[in-house]
Amino acid sequence: MDNIDNANMDNAAHDAAIPVKKVFIATQGCQMNVYDSEKMGNVLGDSHGMIVTTDINEADVLIMNTCSIREKAQEKVFSELGRWRKLKEKNPNLVIGVGGCVASQEGDNIQQRAPYVDMVFGPQTLHRLPELYDQSAKQQHITPKNRIGTVDVSFPSIEKFDFLPEPTVEGYRAFVSIMEGCSKYCSFCVVPYTRGEELSRPLDDVLAEIDSLAEQGVREVTLLGQNVNGYRGEKDDGSICRFAELLHYVAHIDGIERIRYTTSHPLEFTDDIIDAYAKLPQLVSHLHLPVQSGSNKVLAAMKRNHTIDVYINQINKLKAVRPDIHLSSDFIIGFPGETDADFQETLQLAKDLDFDHSYSFVYSKRPGTPAAELYDDVSLDTKKQRLAVFQEVIKQSTLKKTQQMVGQTVRVLVEQIANRHPDNLLGTADNTRSVMFANPHYAANNEADNNSDCAEDALVGHFVMVKVTDFVSPHMVKGELVEILD
Ligand code: SAH
Ligand code: F3S
Repeated sequence: MDNIDNANMDNAAHDAAIPVKKVFIATQGCQMNVYDSEKMGNVLGDSHGMIVTTDINEADVLIMNTCSIREKAQEKVFSELGRWRKLKEKNPNLVIGVGGCVASQEGDNIQQRAPYVDMVFGPQTLHRLPELYDQSAKQQHITPKNRIGTVDVSFPSIEKFDFLPEPTVEGYRAFVSIMEGCSKYCSFCVVPYTRGEELSRPLDDVLAEIDSLAEQGVREVTLLGQNVNGYRGEKDDGSICRFAELLHYVAHIDGIERIRYTTSHPLEFTDDIIDAYAKLPQLVSHLHLPVQSGSNKVLAAMKRNHTIDVYINQINKLKAVRPDIHLSSDFIIGFPGETDADFQETLQLAKDLDFDHSYSFVYSKRPGTPAAELYDDVSLDTKKQRLAVFQEVIKQSTLKKTQQMVGQTVRVLVEQIANRHPDNLLGTADNTRSVMFANPHYAANNEADNNSDCAEDALVGHFVMVKVTDFVSPHMVKGELVEILD
Protein backbone atom coordinates (compact mmCIF):
# COMPACT_ATOMS: atom_id res chain seq x y z
CA MET A 1 0.00 0.00 0.00
CA ASP A 2 2.75 2.35 1.08
CA ASN A 3 4.65 1.58 -2.05
CA ILE A 4 1.72 2.47 -4.27
CA ASP A 5 1.18 5.73 -2.40
CA ASN A 6 4.83 6.60 -2.73
CA ALA A 7 4.77 5.79 -6.41
CA ASN A 8 1.73 8.04 -6.85
CA MET A 9 3.44 10.84 -4.96
CA ASP A 10 6.55 10.39 -7.06
CA ASN A 11 4.47 10.64 -10.22
CA ALA A 12 2.70 13.71 -8.93
CA ALA A 13 6.03 15.34 -8.06
CA HIS A 14 7.40 14.31 -11.44
CA ASP A 15 4.33 15.70 -13.31
CA ALA A 16 4.58 18.95 -11.38
CA ALA A 17 8.28 19.21 -12.27
CA ILE A 18 7.68 18.96 -16.04
CA PRO A 19 6.09 22.18 -17.25
CA VAL A 20 3.36 21.70 -19.79
CA LYS A 21 4.60 22.66 -23.24
CA LYS A 22 2.61 25.11 -25.29
CA VAL A 23 2.11 25.14 -29.04
CA PHE A 24 1.17 28.17 -31.11
CA ILE A 25 -0.38 27.37 -34.51
CA ALA A 26 -0.73 30.01 -37.24
CA THR A 27 -3.18 29.05 -39.97
CA GLN A 28 -3.28 30.38 -43.51
CA GLY A 29 -5.74 29.56 -46.26
CA CYS A 30 -8.86 27.46 -46.49
CA GLN A 31 -11.19 25.68 -44.07
CA MET A 32 -9.29 22.44 -44.69
CA ASN A 33 -6.30 24.14 -43.11
CA VAL A 34 -8.39 25.36 -40.18
CA TYR A 35 -9.48 21.75 -39.66
CA ASP A 36 -5.92 20.43 -40.03
CA SER A 37 -4.59 22.99 -37.53
CA GLU A 38 -7.11 21.85 -34.97
CA LYS A 39 -5.94 18.26 -35.52
CA MET A 40 -2.27 19.30 -35.09
CA GLY A 41 -3.16 20.69 -31.67
CA ASN A 42 -5.05 17.47 -30.88
CA VAL A 43 -2.20 15.09 -31.81
CA LEU A 44 0.42 17.05 -29.85
CA GLY A 45 -1.97 17.26 -26.90
CA ASP A 46 -2.60 13.53 -27.04
CA SER A 47 1.03 12.48 -27.41
CA HIS A 48 2.94 15.12 -25.44
CA GLY A 49 0.28 16.74 -23.25
CA MET A 50 0.85 20.03 -25.07
CA ILE A 51 -1.74 22.76 -24.90
CA VAL A 52 -2.55 25.21 -27.65
CA THR A 53 -1.82 28.85 -26.91
CA THR A 54 -2.81 31.96 -28.83
CA ASP A 55 0.10 33.90 -27.31
CA ILE A 56 3.16 33.37 -29.49
CA ASN A 57 5.49 34.73 -26.79
CA GLU A 58 4.71 31.96 -24.31
CA ALA A 59 4.94 29.09 -26.84
CA ASP A 60 7.57 26.30 -26.85
CA VAL A 61 6.56 25.12 -30.32
CA LEU A 62 5.53 27.31 -33.27
CA ILE A 63 3.72 25.77 -36.23
CA MET A 64 2.80 27.50 -39.44
CA ASN A 65 0.08 25.74 -41.43
CA THR A 66 0.68 27.22 -44.86
CA CYS A 67 -1.27 27.86 -48.08
CA SER A 68 0.17 28.00 -51.60
CA ILE A 69 -2.99 28.61 -53.61
CA ARG A 70 -1.79 32.09 -54.63
CA GLU A 71 1.68 33.57 -54.79
CA LYS A 72 0.89 36.19 -52.16
CA ALA A 73 -0.02 33.57 -49.57
CA GLN A 74 3.18 31.65 -50.32
CA GLU A 75 5.39 34.73 -49.96
CA LYS A 76 3.82 35.49 -46.58
CA VAL A 77 5.27 32.21 -45.28
CA PHE A 78 8.87 33.31 -45.56
CA SER A 79 8.28 36.84 -44.31
CA GLU A 80 6.47 35.47 -41.24
CA LEU A 81 9.21 32.86 -40.71
CA GLY A 82 11.70 35.73 -40.66
CA ARG A 83 9.86 37.11 -37.62
CA TRP A 84 9.82 33.69 -35.96
CA ARG A 85 13.58 33.45 -36.46
CA LYS A 86 14.02 36.43 -34.11
CA LEU A 87 11.98 34.63 -31.43
CA LYS A 88 14.25 31.61 -31.82
CA GLU A 89 17.34 33.76 -31.45
CA LYS A 90 16.00 34.81 -28.04
CA ASN A 91 14.92 31.28 -27.14
CA PRO A 92 17.10 28.63 -28.86
CA ASN A 93 14.90 25.80 -27.50
CA LEU A 94 11.95 27.01 -29.52
CA VAL A 95 10.89 24.34 -32.03
CA ILE A 96 9.59 25.68 -35.34
CA GLY A 97 7.49 23.57 -37.71
CA VAL A 98 6.11 24.32 -41.17
CA GLY A 99 3.14 22.28 -42.41
CA GLY A 100 0.47 22.58 -45.11
CA CYS A 101 0.69 23.10 -48.85
CA VAL A 102 3.85 25.24 -49.07
CA ALA A 103 5.66 22.61 -47.02
CA SER A 104 4.31 19.91 -49.31
CA GLN A 105 5.49 21.74 -52.40
CA GLU A 106 8.85 22.95 -51.13
CA GLY A 107 9.87 19.99 -48.91
CA ASP A 108 13.61 20.16 -48.10
CA ASN A 109 13.86 23.60 -49.70
CA ILE A 110 12.14 25.13 -46.69
CA GLN A 111 15.13 24.33 -44.50
CA GLN A 112 17.53 25.43 -47.26
CA ARG A 113 15.89 28.83 -47.31
CA ALA A 114 15.10 29.01 -43.59
CA PRO A 115 17.62 26.76 -41.78
CA TYR A 116 16.14 27.56 -38.35
CA VAL A 117 12.99 25.56 -39.24
CA ASP A 118 13.09 22.30 -37.24
CA MET A 119 10.38 20.21 -38.86
CA VAL A 120 8.54 20.16 -42.19
CA PHE A 121 5.40 18.14 -42.84
CA GLY A 122 2.58 18.06 -45.39
CA PRO A 123 -1.21 17.98 -45.05
CA GLN A 124 -1.15 14.16 -45.22
CA THR A 125 1.52 13.66 -42.55
CA LEU A 126 0.36 15.93 -39.77
CA HIS A 127 -0.44 12.85 -37.65
CA ARG A 128 3.31 12.15 -37.60
CA LEU A 129 3.99 15.46 -35.83
CA PRO A 130 4.75 13.77 -32.47
CA GLU A 131 7.59 11.73 -34.06
CA LEU A 132 8.85 14.72 -36.03
CA TYR A 133 8.86 16.72 -32.81
CA ASP A 134 10.79 14.00 -30.93
CA GLN A 135 13.33 13.73 -33.75
CA SER A 136 13.81 17.51 -33.80
CA ALA A 137 14.11 17.77 -30.03
CA LYS A 138 16.71 14.92 -29.95
CA GLN A 139 18.88 16.57 -32.58
CA GLN A 140 18.80 20.17 -31.33
CA HIS A 141 22.62 20.36 -31.44
CA ILE A 142 22.64 19.63 -35.21
CA THR A 143 21.70 22.25 -37.83
CA PRO A 144 18.04 21.54 -38.70
CA LYS A 145 18.74 20.92 -42.40
CA ASN A 146 21.24 18.18 -41.44
CA ARG A 147 18.88 16.42 -39.05
CA ILE A 148 17.40 13.04 -39.92
CA GLY A 149 13.69 12.35 -39.96
CA THR A 150 12.49 15.90 -39.51
CA VAL A 151 11.02 16.36 -43.00
CA ASP A 152 8.02 14.29 -44.06
CA VAL A 153 5.90 15.56 -46.93
CA SER A 154 4.87 12.17 -48.30
CA PHE A 155 1.34 11.11 -49.30
CA PRO A 156 0.79 7.98 -47.21
CA SER A 157 -2.67 7.19 -48.61
CA ILE A 158 -5.35 8.24 -46.12
CA GLU A 159 -3.75 6.74 -42.99
CA LYS A 160 -3.72 10.10 -41.21
CA PHE A 161 -7.30 9.72 -40.03
CA ASP A 162 -6.49 6.40 -38.35
CA PHE A 163 -3.97 8.16 -36.13
CA LEU A 164 -5.95 11.21 -35.13
CA PRO A 165 -7.38 11.30 -31.60
CA GLU A 166 -11.15 11.26 -31.01
CA PRO A 167 -12.53 14.64 -32.05
CA THR A 168 -13.32 17.07 -29.28
CA VAL A 169 -15.24 20.23 -29.84
CA GLU A 170 -16.38 23.39 -28.14
CA GLY A 171 -19.52 25.01 -29.44
CA TYR A 172 -22.28 23.81 -31.68
CA ARG A 173 -20.68 23.78 -35.10
CA ALA A 174 -17.91 21.48 -36.30
CA PHE A 175 -15.93 20.66 -39.43
CA VAL A 176 -15.56 17.06 -40.56
CA SER A 177 -13.10 16.15 -43.29
CA ILE A 178 -14.61 13.49 -45.55
CA MET A 179 -12.03 13.41 -48.29
CA GLU A 180 -8.59 14.71 -49.11
CA GLY A 181 -6.90 16.02 -52.22
CA CYS A 182 -8.16 16.67 -55.72
CA SER A 183 -7.92 14.83 -59.03
CA LYS A 184 -9.51 17.49 -61.23
CA TYR A 185 -6.25 19.18 -62.23
CA CYS A 186 -7.71 22.56 -63.19
CA SER A 187 -4.93 24.16 -65.19
CA PHE A 188 -4.34 27.01 -62.70
CA CYS A 189 -4.39 25.08 -59.42
CA VAL A 190 -1.66 23.63 -57.19
CA VAL A 191 -3.95 21.60 -54.94
CA PRO A 192 -3.59 18.22 -56.74
CA TYR A 193 0.19 18.58 -56.39
CA THR A 194 0.22 19.71 -52.75
CA ARG A 195 -2.60 17.62 -51.30
CA GLY A 196 -2.44 14.69 -53.67
CA GLU A 197 -5.21 12.88 -55.55
CA GLU A 198 -8.77 12.54 -54.23
CA LEU A 199 -9.04 10.01 -51.43
CA SER A 200 -12.22 9.47 -49.46
CA ARG A 201 -12.48 8.39 -45.84
CA PRO A 202 -14.46 5.18 -45.31
CA LEU A 203 -18.14 5.81 -44.61
CA ASP A 204 -18.12 4.33 -41.09
CA ASP A 205 -15.19 6.53 -40.02
CA VAL A 206 -16.99 9.67 -41.13
CA LEU A 207 -20.24 8.66 -39.43
CA ALA A 208 -18.46 7.66 -36.20
CA GLU A 209 -16.79 11.07 -36.07
CA ILE A 210 -20.09 12.88 -36.57
CA ASP A 211 -21.81 10.63 -34.00
CA SER A 212 -19.18 11.56 -31.46
CA LEU A 213 -19.54 15.27 -32.26
CA ALA A 214 -23.33 15.06 -31.96
CA GLU A 215 -22.94 13.43 -28.54
CA GLN A 216 -20.84 16.43 -27.51
CA GLY A 217 -23.69 18.77 -28.45
CA VAL A 218 -22.82 19.67 -32.06
CA ARG A 219 -25.92 20.68 -34.06
CA GLU A 220 -24.32 21.72 -37.36
CA VAL A 221 -21.57 19.99 -39.36
CA THR A 222 -19.67 21.24 -42.37
CA LEU A 223 -18.39 18.36 -44.48
CA LEU A 224 -14.98 19.31 -45.80
CA GLY A 225 -12.88 18.40 -48.80
CA GLN A 226 -11.56 19.97 -51.99
CA ASN A 227 -14.40 18.31 -53.92
CA VAL A 228 -16.76 16.79 -51.41
CA ASN A 229 -19.22 15.86 -54.11
CA GLY A 230 -16.56 13.57 -55.57
CA TYR A 231 -16.83 11.54 -52.33
CA ARG A 232 -16.49 7.79 -52.88
CA GLY A 233 -16.26 6.29 -49.40
CA GLU A 234 -15.94 2.58 -48.90
CA LYS A 235 -18.78 0.93 -46.99
CA ASP A 236 -18.48 -2.01 -44.64
CA ASP A 237 -19.45 -4.45 -47.39
CA GLY A 238 -16.83 -3.08 -49.80
CA SER A 239 -19.34 -1.16 -51.93
CA ILE A 240 -18.96 2.56 -52.55
CA CYS A 241 -21.01 5.32 -50.94
CA ARG A 242 -21.37 8.46 -53.06
CA PHE A 243 -21.87 11.96 -51.72
CA ALA A 244 -25.69 12.10 -52.00
CA GLU A 245 -26.01 8.86 -50.04
CA LEU A 246 -23.60 10.15 -47.40
CA LEU A 247 -25.84 13.20 -46.96
CA HIS A 248 -28.77 10.89 -46.18
CA TYR A 249 -26.74 9.01 -43.56
CA VAL A 250 -25.57 12.22 -41.89
CA ALA A 251 -29.08 13.67 -41.84
CA HIS A 252 -30.22 10.65 -39.83
CA ILE A 253 -27.72 11.21 -37.03
CA ASP A 254 -29.59 12.32 -33.90
CA GLY A 255 -28.93 15.95 -33.00
CA ILE A 256 -27.51 17.03 -36.38
CA GLU A 257 -30.01 19.52 -37.72
CA ARG A 258 -27.88 21.42 -40.19
CA ILE A 259 -25.51 20.09 -42.83
CA ARG A 260 -23.20 22.31 -44.87
CA TYR A 261 -20.39 21.26 -47.16
CA THR A 262 -17.54 22.85 -49.01
CA THR A 263 -16.17 22.81 -51.66
CA SER A 264 -17.74 21.09 -54.60
CA HIS A 265 -17.11 20.94 -58.35
CA PRO A 266 -19.93 21.66 -60.86
CA LEU A 267 -19.10 18.50 -62.80
CA GLU A 268 -20.10 16.32 -59.87
CA PHE A 269 -23.07 18.35 -58.74
CA THR A 270 -25.28 15.51 -59.88
CA ASP A 271 -29.05 14.99 -59.86
CA ASP A 272 -28.92 12.68 -56.83
CA ILE A 273 -27.49 15.60 -54.83
CA ILE A 274 -30.28 17.88 -56.06
CA ASP A 275 -32.73 15.19 -54.99
CA ALA A 276 -31.15 15.24 -51.50
CA TYR A 277 -32.12 18.95 -51.30
CA ALA A 278 -35.70 17.94 -52.02
CA LYS A 279 -35.70 15.26 -49.32
CA LEU A 280 -33.43 16.45 -46.51
CA PRO A 281 -34.48 19.55 -44.58
CA GLN A 282 -31.18 19.29 -42.66
CA LEU A 283 -29.30 20.33 -45.80
CA VAL A 284 -29.03 24.14 -45.57
CA SER A 285 -30.43 26.33 -48.30
CA HIS A 286 -26.98 27.53 -49.20
CA LEU A 287 -24.71 26.15 -51.90
CA HIS A 288 -21.13 27.19 -52.54
CA LEU A 289 -20.35 26.02 -56.06
CA PRO A 290 -17.21 27.53 -57.62
CA VAL A 291 -17.63 28.45 -61.29
CA GLN A 292 -14.43 30.53 -61.77
CA SER A 293 -15.51 32.25 -65.02
CA GLY A 294 -18.58 33.07 -67.11
CA SER A 295 -16.80 32.48 -70.42
CA ASN A 296 -16.80 29.06 -72.07
CA LYS A 297 -13.49 29.84 -73.72
CA VAL A 298 -11.85 30.61 -70.38
CA LEU A 299 -13.50 27.61 -68.70
CA ALA A 300 -11.99 25.36 -71.37
CA ALA A 301 -8.53 26.90 -70.89
CA MET A 302 -8.94 26.37 -67.14
CA LYS A 303 -9.74 22.70 -67.82
CA ARG A 304 -12.94 22.88 -65.78
CA ASN A 305 -14.49 20.39 -68.24
CA HIS A 306 -17.97 21.90 -68.32
CA THR A 307 -19.71 24.81 -70.01
CA ILE A 308 -21.66 27.65 -68.46
CA ASP A 309 -24.92 26.05 -69.63
CA VAL A 310 -24.19 22.93 -67.58
CA TYR A 311 -23.67 25.11 -64.50
CA ILE A 312 -26.81 27.20 -65.03
CA ASN A 313 -28.87 24.12 -65.79
CA GLN A 314 -27.93 22.44 -62.47
CA ILE A 315 -28.59 25.65 -60.54
CA ASN A 316 -32.02 25.96 -62.16
CA LYS A 317 -32.86 22.37 -61.23
CA LEU A 318 -31.79 23.07 -57.66
CA LYS A 319 -33.89 26.24 -57.53
CA ALA A 320 -36.90 24.19 -58.63
CA VAL A 321 -36.66 22.00 -55.51
CA ARG A 322 -35.31 24.72 -53.18
CA PRO A 323 -36.62 28.11 -54.28
CA ASP A 324 -34.98 29.80 -51.25
CA ILE A 325 -31.47 28.54 -52.09
CA HIS A 326 -28.62 31.01 -51.46
CA LEU A 327 -25.74 30.72 -53.87
CA SER A 328 -22.09 31.59 -53.56
CA SER A 329 -19.11 30.95 -55.79
CA ASP A 330 -15.39 31.44 -56.46
CA PHE A 331 -14.12 33.46 -59.44
CA ILE A 332 -10.70 33.94 -60.96
CA ILE A 333 -10.36 37.26 -62.76
CA GLY A 334 -7.66 37.85 -65.38
CA PHE A 335 -6.89 34.26 -66.38
CA PRO A 336 -4.29 34.26 -69.22
CA GLY A 337 -6.00 35.33 -72.42
CA GLU A 338 -9.18 36.64 -70.74
CA THR A 339 -10.48 39.35 -73.08
CA ASP A 340 -12.76 42.19 -72.08
CA ALA A 341 -15.63 40.27 -73.74
CA ASP A 342 -14.82 37.19 -71.61
CA PHE A 343 -14.80 39.35 -68.51
CA GLN A 344 -18.17 40.88 -69.46
CA GLU A 345 -19.59 37.34 -69.65
CA THR A 346 -18.33 36.66 -66.11
CA LEU A 347 -19.89 39.90 -64.92
CA GLN A 348 -23.17 39.04 -66.60
CA LEU A 349 -23.22 35.58 -65.02
CA ALA A 350 -22.74 37.12 -61.57
CA LYS A 351 -25.62 39.52 -62.24
CA ASP A 352 -27.91 36.82 -63.65
CA LEU A 353 -27.34 34.31 -60.86
CA ASP A 354 -27.52 37.02 -58.20
CA PHE A 355 -24.98 35.39 -55.89
CA ASP A 356 -25.47 35.79 -52.20
CA HIS A 357 -21.75 36.32 -51.76
CA SER A 358 -18.61 35.23 -53.59
CA TYR A 359 -14.85 35.02 -53.37
CA SER A 360 -12.87 36.47 -56.25
CA PHE A 361 -9.18 36.77 -56.90
CA VAL A 362 -6.84 37.96 -59.61
CA TYR A 363 -5.27 34.94 -61.32
CA SER A 364 -1.96 34.01 -59.71
CA LYS A 365 0.59 32.05 -61.74
CA ARG A 366 1.58 28.91 -59.86
CA PRO A 367 4.84 27.22 -60.85
CA GLY A 368 4.39 23.68 -62.10
CA THR A 369 0.77 24.13 -63.20
CA PRO A 370 -0.16 23.94 -66.93
CA ALA A 371 -1.61 27.49 -66.94
CA ALA A 372 1.80 28.85 -65.93
CA GLU A 373 2.93 28.07 -69.50
CA LEU A 374 0.10 30.02 -71.14
CA TYR A 375 0.78 33.25 -72.98
CA ASP A 376 -0.66 36.09 -70.91
CA ASP A 377 -1.14 39.46 -72.60
CA VAL A 378 -3.45 40.99 -69.98
CA SER A 379 -1.69 43.55 -67.78
CA LEU A 380 -1.91 43.31 -64.00
CA ASP A 381 -3.49 46.77 -63.95
CA THR A 382 -6.30 45.61 -66.24
CA LYS A 383 -6.83 42.52 -64.10
CA LYS A 384 -7.04 44.60 -60.94
CA GLN A 385 -9.50 47.01 -62.55
CA ARG A 386 -11.70 44.09 -63.65
CA LEU A 387 -11.56 42.61 -60.17
CA ALA A 388 -12.66 45.91 -58.62
CA VAL A 389 -15.64 46.15 -61.02
CA PHE A 390 -16.55 42.52 -60.34
CA GLN A 391 -16.30 42.81 -56.57
CA GLU A 392 -18.56 45.87 -56.59
CA VAL A 393 -21.29 43.83 -58.32
CA ILE A 394 -20.93 41.06 -55.75
CA LYS A 395 -20.88 43.56 -52.87
CA GLN A 396 -24.13 45.11 -54.06
CA SER A 397 -25.85 41.75 -54.39
CA THR A 398 -24.68 40.69 -50.88
CA LEU A 399 -26.08 43.95 -49.53
CA LYS A 400 -29.35 43.48 -51.36
CA LYS A 401 -29.74 39.89 -50.12
CA THR A 402 -29.23 40.97 -46.51
CA GLN A 403 -31.68 43.86 -46.90
CA GLN A 404 -34.21 41.45 -48.38
CA MET A 405 -34.13 39.40 -45.17
CA VAL A 406 -35.99 42.19 -43.34
CA GLY A 407 -39.56 40.97 -42.86
CA GLN A 408 -38.63 37.30 -43.38
CA THR A 409 -38.68 34.67 -40.63
CA VAL A 410 -35.46 32.65 -40.62
CA ARG A 411 -34.11 29.63 -38.81
CA VAL A 412 -31.20 30.45 -36.50
CA LEU A 413 -28.75 28.27 -34.57
CA VAL A 414 -28.24 30.19 -31.32
CA GLU A 415 -24.55 30.20 -30.47
CA GLN A 416 -23.81 32.74 -27.77
CA ILE A 417 -24.84 35.71 -25.70
CA ALA A 418 -23.92 38.82 -27.72
CA ASN A 419 -20.66 40.20 -26.32
CA ARG A 420 -21.51 43.87 -26.35
CA HIS A 421 -25.26 43.42 -25.84
CA PRO A 422 -25.67 40.83 -23.07
CA ASP A 423 -29.45 41.19 -23.24
CA ASN A 424 -29.27 39.74 -26.78
CA LEU A 425 -28.47 36.34 -28.24
CA LEU A 426 -26.44 35.77 -31.39
CA GLY A 427 -26.69 32.99 -33.94
CA THR A 428 -26.35 32.12 -37.61
CA ALA A 429 -28.99 31.83 -40.32
CA ASP A 430 -28.87 29.27 -43.12
CA ASN A 431 -27.34 31.88 -45.42
CA THR A 432 -24.45 32.46 -42.97
CA ARG A 433 -25.70 35.90 -41.83
CA SER A 434 -25.35 36.63 -38.10
CA VAL A 435 -28.69 37.21 -36.43
CA MET A 436 -29.10 39.07 -33.13
CA PHE A 437 -32.32 39.06 -31.13
CA ALA A 438 -33.52 39.98 -27.64
CA ASN A 439 -33.01 37.19 -25.13
CA PRO A 440 -36.34 36.29 -23.52
CA HIS A 441 -34.51 34.88 -20.46
CA TYR A 442 -32.32 37.90 -19.86
CA ALA A 443 -34.14 39.27 -16.79
CA ALA A 444 -34.49 35.81 -15.23
CA ASN A 445 -30.82 35.01 -15.92
CA ASN A 446 -29.74 38.20 -14.26
CA GLU A 447 -31.85 37.59 -11.19
CA ALA A 448 -30.51 34.04 -10.87
CA ASP A 449 -27.00 35.28 -11.40
CA ASN A 450 -27.21 38.17 -8.99
CA ASN A 451 -27.46 40.78 -11.69
CA SER A 452 -24.17 39.82 -13.36
CA ASP A 453 -24.05 38.93 -17.04
CA CYS A 454 -24.70 35.25 -17.57
CA ALA A 455 -22.25 33.36 -19.83
CA GLU A 456 -24.72 30.61 -20.76
CA ASP A 457 -28.36 30.63 -21.68
CA ALA A 458 -30.94 27.88 -22.10
CA LEU A 459 -31.40 28.79 -25.77
CA VAL A 460 -27.70 28.55 -26.69
CA GLY A 461 -27.19 25.43 -28.81
CA HIS A 462 -30.82 25.37 -29.97
CA PHE A 463 -32.59 26.28 -33.19
CA VAL A 464 -35.13 29.09 -33.14
CA MET A 465 -37.19 31.02 -35.68
CA VAL A 466 -36.49 34.74 -35.75
CA LYS A 467 -38.43 37.41 -37.60
CA VAL A 468 -35.89 39.81 -39.06
CA THR A 469 -36.70 43.44 -38.25
CA ASP A 470 -33.52 45.42 -39.02
CA PHE A 471 -30.52 45.46 -41.29
CA VAL A 472 -27.34 45.97 -39.23
CA SER A 473 -24.51 45.38 -41.74
CA PRO A 474 -24.05 43.33 -44.95
CA HIS A 475 -23.44 40.25 -42.81
CA MET A 476 -25.69 40.93 -39.83
CA VAL A 477 -29.37 41.49 -39.10
CA LYS A 478 -31.51 41.99 -36.00
CA GLY A 479 -34.84 40.37 -35.24
CA GLU A 480 -37.44 39.12 -32.79
CA LEU A 481 -37.79 35.59 -31.46
CA VAL A 482 -40.87 33.91 -32.96
CA GLU A 483 -40.53 30.26 -32.05
CA ILE A 484 -38.20 27.90 -30.20
CA LEU A 485 -37.64 24.79 -32.34
CA ASP A 486 -35.50 22.44 -30.27
N1 SAH B 1 -12.24 22.65 -55.18
C1 SAH B 1 -12.56 23.96 -55.51
C2 SAH B 1 -11.43 24.94 -55.43
C3 SAH B 1 -10.51 24.96 -54.26
S1 SAH B 1 -9.25 26.18 -54.36
C4 SAH B 1 -13.22 24.01 -56.92
O1 SAH B 1 -13.92 23.14 -57.29
O2 SAH B 1 -13.07 24.97 -57.63
C5 SAH B 1 -10.14 27.60 -53.81
C6 SAH B 1 -10.24 28.71 -54.80
O3 SAH B 1 -9.00 29.37 -54.98
C7 SAH B 1 -10.62 28.29 -56.20
O4 SAH B 1 -11.99 28.07 -56.33
C8 SAH B 1 -10.12 29.41 -57.06
O5 SAH B 1 -11.11 30.39 -57.25
C9 SAH B 1 -8.97 29.99 -56.23
N2 SAH B 1 -7.69 29.68 -56.90
C10 SAH B 1 -7.10 28.49 -57.06
N3 SAH B 1 -5.96 28.62 -57.76
C11 SAH B 1 -5.83 29.92 -58.05
C12 SAH B 1 -4.86 30.68 -58.78
N4 SAH B 1 -3.81 30.09 -59.35
N5 SAH B 1 -5.05 32.01 -58.89
C13 SAH B 1 -6.12 32.62 -58.33
N6 SAH B 1 -7.06 31.96 -57.64
C14 SAH B 1 -6.93 30.62 -57.50
FE1 F3S C 1 -8.11 23.10 -57.58
FE2 F3S C 1 -9.76 22.56 -59.51
FE3 F3S C 1 -9.33 20.81 -57.64
S1 F3S C 1 -9.62 24.47 -58.43
S2 F3S C 1 -8.85 21.99 -55.85
S3 F3S C 1 -7.86 21.49 -59.11
S4 F3S C 1 -11.27 21.29 -58.61
